[in-house]
Amino acid sequence: MRKKLIAGNWKMHKTIAEAVALIDALHAALPFVPADRDVVVCPTFTALSSIAARPRGPIGIGAQNVYPESHGAFTGEISPAMLAEIGCAYVIVGHSERRAMFGESDAFIAKKAAAVLAAGMSPIICVGETKQERESGRAQSVVLGQVAGSLAGLEGRLEDVVIAYEPVWAIGTGLTATAADAQTMHAAIRAELRRIGGAAAERVRIQYGGSVKADNVDELMAQPDIDGALVGGAALVAEGFARIANYR
Ligand code: 13P
Repeated sequence: MRKKLIAGNWKMHKTIAEAVALIDALHAALPFVPADRDVVVCPTFTALSSIAARPRGPIGIGAQNVYPESHGAFTGEISPAMLAEIGCAYVIVGHSERRAMFGESDAFIAKKAAAVLAAGMSPIICVGETKQERESGRAQSVVLGQVAGSLAGLEGRLEDVVIAYEPVWAIGTGLTATAADAQTMHAAIRAELRRIGGAAAERVRIQYGGSVKADNVDELMAQPDIDGALVGGAALVAEGFARIANYR
């Protein structure tokens, strides 16, 4: 039985003061979570330490990005050990915004994921097709290619990895894949994970992301291969995120 993972990706939102107010409100709205799920928030780098120092009950923390070296002349970057030191358990890598705006390749994402694992955290590796790729019938081949490429060299570590399937056309648009379409892609991803890593594939959590909201989360989470959600906009409001974390 896979434990579901509900994660809030705060993206580039919230000053430190605003982030602290949000985690306090979230803690009040979500004082405990059922044992069958993990709940995590991923604030900006600047807010991470302040969030880590707040009472958070069952809510864990993660980061949104990392650089895959332990230290050195990498101006502006943050190492895995720095994130582990703060108390991060997860690091999002290869979000579609980073793939599109910062040119991150599957090979670079695989390096980041390996560095995150080496520091004792779990990478949340994001994959997903664009609208054009879906409309031209290439969604599955694109996504499975990203899965294989982003896991290169990590075949023996699959169970500590989280995959987030986030169709690009569903991010921030209010459009969501239907639960059935999402399940179809998740099952295809799991089959690819089986090809890559054998039986460990059954233990890999595959999150869905893209306009997850209180009114669609229950149906998405009821699908057999959907093991959680990576939530953007709806994670910025405490009551809304608490409702998502309390999916039925
Ligand atoms: P939205 O929930 O705002 O569509 O964002 C999804 C996302 O990109 C999470 O990483």
